[in-house]
Order: sequence, then C-alpha cells, then structure tokens
Amino acid sequence: MILRIRSSGAGGIGGLHFARVNSCKVFGPAFIVLLCLLLEGCTRQRVHEPITLIYLDQRSMTPPYQKEYERELQQFTQETGIRVKFLPSPESAQEQLALWQELLATGVSGPDVYGIDVIWPGILGDDFIDLKPYFGNEIPEYFPAIIKSYTVDNKLVAIPHGPDAGLLFYRTDLLREYGYGAPPSTWDELETMAARIQAGERAKGKRQFWGFVWQGVATEALTCNALEWQASEGGGRIIEDDKTISVNNPQAIRAWQRAAHWVGTISPPSEISYNEFDAMNVWSAGDAAFMRNWPGHYLLSQAAKSPIRNKFDVTLLPGGKGGRLGTLGGIGLGVSRFSTHPREARELVRFLTRRDMELTRVLLLSDPPDREELYQLPEVQKQYPHFALLSQGFKTGVVSRPSNVAGKKYAEVSDAYIRAVHSVLTGEKGAPEAATALEKELVNITGYKKGAPSSGSAGSARP
Ligand code: GLC
Repeated sequence: MILRIRSSGAGGIGGLHFARVNSCKVFGPAFIVLLCLLLEGCTRQRVHEPITLIYLDQRSMTPPYQKEYERELQQFTQETGIRVKFLPSPESAQEQLALWQELLATGVSGPDVYGIDVIWPGILGDDFIDLKPYFGNEIPEYFPAIIKSYTVDNKLVAIPHGPDAGLLFYRTDLLREYGYGAPPSTWDELETMAARIQAGERAKGKRQFWGFVWQGVATEALTCNALEWQASEGGGRIIEDDKTISVNNPQAIRAWQRAAHWVGTISPPSEISYNEFDAMNVWSAGDAAFMRNWPGHYLLSQAAKSPIRNKFDVTLLPGGKGGRLGTLGGIGLGVSRFSTHPREARELVRFLTRRDMELTRVLLLSDPPDREELYQLPEVQKQYPHFALLSQGFKTGVVSRPSNVAGKKYAEVSDAYIRAVHSVLTGEKGAPEAATALEKELVNITGYKKGAPSSGSAGSARP
C-alpha cells in the first residue's frame, strides 16, 4: 500500500511533537514500523513522567492551520499537564481509513484519540468507546444530523470536530462582468454560465481558464461530488435508509452523464484526477469561475496574497427537483478502546471540542461551527455571511452518504460507486451500463434488495 502523507511542516514545541513530513510517498509497512517506534517511545512511561497522549487525525497541517493546532495542544498541556504527540495522516479518506484500521487491528494501545470521518462510525465503531455518557450536556448543542452520523446502535462514537458540506464557490467579479445578477441555482444554469465565462476569459488570452472545477479523482471525494449531482436531481442516495439499493435509476444516470460531459468542456480533462487541493489550485490562481469544495477553502481563497481575495463568494450547490444539496462531511474525535489513558483522552476530546476552542477556530480558520448557537453570533455572521446558508444546510440541505445503512460494508460500497462513476467520467463505460453493473455489485456486497429512490431521499440527513 502506498501512503501519500499530507503536507506538514511543524517541529516540536514544548510537550508537542508535530512530525515533519513533506508531501511524499512512503511505503505503508515502513510507515507503520516508524509509527511503532514512535509509539513505543511514548507509551513506555516512567512512573513520574507526565502522560503523553497520541493523537491521530486528518486535519490539514498546512499553514495557517498548523499554527492554531499547535497553539491549542500547547494550551491543553499547560492546562492539564498532559502532553500530546500529534501524528500526521495520509491524504485521501481511503488511505486514512486503511491506516486507522491497521493500527486498530493490532489491538495494542496506539493512538488514544482518533479523528473519525463522518462516514466511519459504522466501520470502526466497535473499536471506540461510547462518549454519550460523558458528553450528555454537550450533545443537545450540536446539529442533530451531525450527531446522528456519529451514532451507531445508539453509541456515540465521536464528538463533532468540524462539519463539512459541499458548497459552490463563485467569482463575483466575473459574474458581474458577464451580466449575471446571481449565482446559478440549477446545474443547467451553472453549465451555461461556466461556458460563457470560460469562452470570454479565453478570448481575452487566459488560455488556461476553466468554467468549473470539482473533485473527479477516484477517491471518496468523488463519492461526495457524485452524490450531490444525483441526489439533487432526485436520483437517491445510492442505498436508502430502508436498505433499498436505488442507484440504478434514470436521474442518477443522467446526473453522471452530465458530469462526464463537463470533462474537457467546462472542466479540465485532468478533472478526473483532481482532489480538493487540485481544484483549489486552479481556483485560487484565478483560473476558474466556479469551484465545488468544502467550507474550509474559504480561508485559503481569502488569503492575503490570493489573486481572488474579495472577488468571490460562496453559496449552496446548484440543484434540481431533489433540492440544492451538499454532501455532509466532517470529522469528529473518538477515544480508542485500546487507550491506556481513556480518562485523559476524554479530557483531550473535551478540550478540543470546547465552545471557546471551537469559536476561536471558526473565526481564525473559517471552519464552520458544529454548535448551532455559534451561527447566531454577530462576529461570526459578520465575518462569514455564507454561514447562514450552511446553518440552514445542516438542518435541511445536506445529503448523507449511505454509511450508517451500509455499516461495516460502507468502504466497499463507496469503492464500488467510485469505480462506476469514474468509469463514466473517463468514457470507459456508458452510464446505464455502469449503473446496472454497480447495482449488481452492491447487491452482492450488502445482500440488500434493489429498488427506486425513496421520495424523501434527498434531504435524508434531516433528523
Ligand atoms: C472531507 C470531508 C470528509 C470526506 C472527505 C472526502 O474531508 O470532511 O467527510 O470523506 O472530504 O475527500
């Protein structure tokens, strides 16, 4: 297995040790051995040594995030005397999951606290303690849809630590220049506007300009994008909550066909290998009119030297008869059942998810809040007007991946979906053929029956 490690560049400070790993490829086993050495060094604690927790999560370790995370962990050590060793993670959600699973499968005390992608509780839940008894007071502060996605069989596997929902970023200056008074509300409108702006910008000499960038790489990021296309057109959630495999339907097929048509027309031919940061690179260079991405990309777009600073805004993704839906993403923090310091690990989770920590992160890093109430604060509303849409979104405008219903099989389900949609984007297969084969594969994986999308399918993250 080849792991691509997220760019990171921190050194240790005080009790903190941020591993310095540049974007590179290392072989999994070597990484694991390295990790074991690292873990050995800090689990063998002498009696009077302060406790060192190991914390593994998938947060971006690029500046300016890294600085804030270091500060938070430093504050935790100052307040509690507990040290934290932070481990960097691979880049894609699948690679992360594989590493998490490898570590947990050893059954020995490895990381104490793990970042848990919103789609993993069904897969990893058995290896994490139930946090419900310890966070009873905090739970009602969070959006019910978010709490629901971290709950399996009534067990709360993680405390929310940064929600995500797919959003549309658009260039306000270009929309104005090309005579558009508002961003697109349907996929048809987006196509028309993207094509017109692209043609106009290219005619001015910007040969590398594209209308719309998104995530077409064959990873979990594609599941998030493709689910938005199909669910917003009434094409269902791949597998419905009642265990119906609904993916082989005309709306989903049309939505995939539409996206395949974008490749090489309003989106670059290399779109089929773009992840979130590839799309961001084109967008932040000023070379795209629209981008689908997660809310955190606001901060990078608005950076002091960004060519698009103050020239963009963010809104809901376009939609159709299913509504305007962003895929629900995000991470939570869970405590490993193998932790030898579960009390201290819970303390770290409590500290990192504390209201004041959350608010600082929101204001500094443009991460949307998990707590509903923070959206009402005047300073939050002033700095991030688009959060008003997000807070509404987390109530009614998000679509959840079928991770709860697929349970332990979710990774296989998503993998099959990714292969099917990607084969349509590359032109290797026609959409009807790919959907039929996928349906069969999902029946084999899950044993569930096939059928039509349920009518309330689109907004099914609704509590
Ligand atoms: C973001 C989301 C996460 C999703 C991933 C896919 O990190 O928060 O839920 O699985 O993107 O790339």
